[in-house]
Amino acid sequence: MNAEVYIAKTDEHGNKKWVRYEVPCASSDRVAQVLRYIYEHIDGDIAYRPCFCKRGSCGLCMMVVNGKCVKTCLAAVIPVMHIEPLPLPVIRDLVVEFPDRR
Ligand code: FES
Repeated sequence: MNAEVYIAKTDEHGNKKWVRYEVPCASSDRVAQVLRYIYEHIDGDIAYRPCFCKRGSCGLCMMVVNGKCVKTCLAAVIPVMHIEPLPLPVIRDLVVEFPDRR
């Protein structure tokens, strides 16, 4: 299958702009795998946090997909996805500033 993926990138003025990608994937793939594919094969300029634990425990891969906060290492791909950063201060594209946990 191909997934139609829209990613909220940051333009030169710091505003959000949606960029569309067509990504080959399997229905068993996770959203994080789609992001990695885009980064490695289509758009190496995209900023996102790669998965750390890959099993849902660290939370560093969280993003908003189609309006819901998800852990992208666990969330299954769906045919059309709008991926944007968490509602926190955005550093660039999908990377946000997490609150200090100390
Ligand atoms: S990579 Fe740790 S929760 Fe997804």
